[in-house]
Amino acid sequence: MAERKQLFVNLFEMACVSHITHGLWPLPGNNRERFADIDYWLELAQILEHGGFDGIFLADVIGAYDVFRDGPETALREGLQSPNLDPLLVIPAMAAVTERLGFGVTFSTTYEPPFAFARRMSTLDHLTKGRVGWNVVTSYLPNAARNFGLDGEIPHDLRYRYADEYLDVLYKLWEGSWDDDAVVADRERGIFTDPAKVRYIDHVGERHRVAGPHIVHPSPQRTPVIFQATGSPAGIEFAGRHAEVVFTGGRTTEEFRRNASNMSEAAVRHGRQADDIKFIAMAGVIVGRTEEEAADKWRLYQQHASIDGILAHASLPVDLTAFPRDLTVREALNRAGVPQERVPFLPLDRTVGEALDFVSGSREDRFLVVGTPTVVADAIERWLDEDGLDGINLRQYHSFDTARDFAELVVPELRKRGRLPAEGERSATLRERLFGAGNSRLPDRHIGARYRGGANLHEPLEPLLLDAANAGSFS
Ligand SMILES: Cc1cc2nc3c(=O)[nH]c(=O)nc-3n(C[C@H](O)[C@H](O)[C@H](O)COP(=O)(O)O)c2cc1C
Repeated sequence: MAERKQLFVNLFEMACVSHITHGLWPLPGNNRERFADIDYWLELAQILEHGGFDGIFLADVIGAYDVFRDGPETALREGLQSPNLDPLLVIPAMAAVTERLGFGVTFSTTYEPPFAFARRMSTLDHLTKGRVGWNVVTSYLPNAARNFGLDGEIPHDLRYRYADEYLDVLYKLWEGSWDDDAVVADRERGIFTDPAKVRYIDHVGERHRVAGPHIVHPSPQRTPVIFQATGSPAGIEFAGRHAEVVFTGGRTTEEFRRNASNMSEAAVRHGRQADDIKFIAMAGVIVGRTEEEAADKWRLYQQHASIDGILAHASLPVDLTAFPRDLTVREALNRAGVPQERVPFLPLDRTVGEALDFVSGSREDRFLVVGTPTVVADAIERWLDEDGLDGINLRQYHSFDTARDFAELVVPELRKRGRLPAEGERSATLRERLFGAGNSRLPDRHIGARYRGGANLHEPLEPLLLDAANAGSFS
């Protein structure tokens, strides 16, 4: 029998009260307000490790959502991604109480220099014994730009060009600066590191000048597993060069497959293999022992969803809730003095009521299932086999019920169907869990591998072909 494709499953988290399920934190038994308590992370990590999850994936932003209603008040009232702790710092705590759980963590390439970040990630890769991944983002909040000395956001494609240089610096540090056998720890001769096996990188680029050598010796994976979420032409080109796991979307199976194949083609253009990129989607799974139990939970979550939280998260530049529901969106925009170009995703000739329903509905996952373990497992098998998904980031409606329900009800069913490994079977670095035993390091054909052994450190990378992918958007 052909081997069944197995699911890679992350819990989607953020060190804040309201990440993506707005309005649900006050529900009875929800632990979200404990996000600043280290015990929250210890308990959660153990539920996930023993519950059959592969990893926990931590989102991050570095600014306030202050576009909606021209200020941060709505976001603050809602606990919308603010207050928000530094996600890198909760990982060692979780690593200390787990052996297998992977950690995906978000960090932006736009504002902080690469040398310090290279050090932090190498530290995490050592402390977790090779269990970290990095979600590369370029950041989207205007307030983030103002927190780091800029008046406004750097244009979209330019952020990707800067990100490309950022990763280039990191590869030089992570892959090229130290040889694997540089640390000799020779007690007799009193030599810790062989200096002949460590080198400066002397990077001089458009945005960064970094001498090196890297200040941390090679960690189990060297480069953490590179995650990215994108759909834009520039982002796809970037993913083709760098990403190993991509969050992608699509409203239908065909659209999802087309997006994924665009990404794989970009990888091939960059000298990689089509299956060097794995695809993960955000998914909602509401499971109950009976259909009624699952439906009741879903109804509860829908009833408590906060439209204010959703609109603030969407950075809507017009407060549609301030207008009568039967007014057209066009008229509401006119009255608010907001140009149509600022909300290209809103249906202008529909009513405000319909638009509000659309905005709140569009949050609902394309990958959403409500039902018994059998119904859920059937859906997940379809996602794997028909849509071509490799894994999911599980959306949390309730902490820790969402994770516990999945662990107790869904994991056994998926194991029975051969879609998840038996308990404790996967024990390795994060890259090995994704790409198989013996694959802790970047494949040789990945761009980051060009610096191994100190090769190519002074050979500039070909510029990423962003102009061709999205002509004229540099400004
Ligand atoms: C599942 C998922 C998780 C994301 N997590 C973050 C995040 O934590 N922080 C962030 O700044 N952006 C996050 N984003 C936004 C992406 O980084 C990116 O801005 C978005 O996918 C649009 O990319 P594009 O402009 O290249 O199409 C996430 C997107 C998705 C789909």
